[in-house]
Amino acid sequence: MKVSAQVPATIANLGCGFDCLGLALPIYNTVTVEETVLPGSGIEINIIDENNQNNIENIPRDKNNIVYKAIELLYNYIGQTPNELKISIKTQIPVARGLGSSASVITGGLIAANELLGRPADTAVLLSIATEIEGHPDNIAPAILGGVVLSDWEEDGSVTVNKLPWPEDWVVTICIPDYELSTEISRSVLPKEVSLKDAAYNLRHAAMFVQAVYTKDEELMKLSLKDKLHQPYRMKLVPGLSDIANELKHTEGVLGCVLAGAGPSVAIIQNGTKNNLVKEIVSSVWENIDVNAQIYTLPVLNEGAKIIK
Ligand code: HSE
Repeated sequence: MKVSAQVPATIANLGCGFDCLGLALPIYNTVTVEETVLPGSGIEINIIDENNQNNIENIPRDKNNIVYKAIELLYNYIGQTPNELKISIKTQIPVARGLGSSASVITGGLIAANELLGRPADTAVLLSIATEIEGHPDNIAPAILGGVVLSDWEEDGSVTVNKLPWPEDWVVTICIPDYELSTEISRSVLPKEVSLKDAAYNLRHAAMFVQAVYTKDEELMKLSLKDKLHQPYRMKLVPGLSDIANELKHTEGVLGCVLAGAGPSVAIIQNGTKNNLVKEIVSSVWENIDVNAQIYTLPVLNEGAKIIK
């Protein structure tokens, strides 16, 4: 028997919500998990890059693979160990661009294996296992639930999620440069400690973000999408980001410009009235410094991971 799960791309942080805010976008990875019948056949992992855009050679195909590790934790949760497993991953989400590709495949493997095992784990357990493998919940939560999600990860490993009522006409222009930036490198430039002043700055902006979503308040959203915890340190890793942000500051319809997750993609949140103009502005900044990019305007996807036939 085999089961496939389709999981969306996600954008974490959204400026002020470092490691706790994220949203889902309609770009998908698919993970198929099969318990093979041949005893002793071991673990087989296949990866197909559907858009031929990723550097997938270095992804482990053994028990060090993150999808396998997540599935192993699920088996352990029910007191078992996976023996013969075939995992097939079809990727459409670009790898190492800040679009939650790892959260997507971890979630896909878990949801598919959980289905295969007769759904022993509920959403809370899946969130907790996936977050343990990923290291932060902000991509995992929208990958599982869809929409815009505020997530908390406690020291006991439990993850609490709150889905926010995102206004339907607020869209995301996602600008994906043609180079990779690993989350590991992007986290390595962050300070181990921050000032009380900067922590308080993000605290109030994250609170404003939630209020802006609930009240559909564009002016409050513009004010909220600011950050002092990660973007200032990561700017140097994403050439052109500060110019893009400056150019877009006074563009009608733009609510904010943020680094997508750990980067290098840039996400522009807007009310949908000036999509082409935003695309032209980003293209021209990056063209001037020879950065090739794919740029799309997408709605926020309200549906999370699902089992497919
Ligand atoms: N919150 C994480 C970070 C997202 O910024 O490092 C990484 O995908």
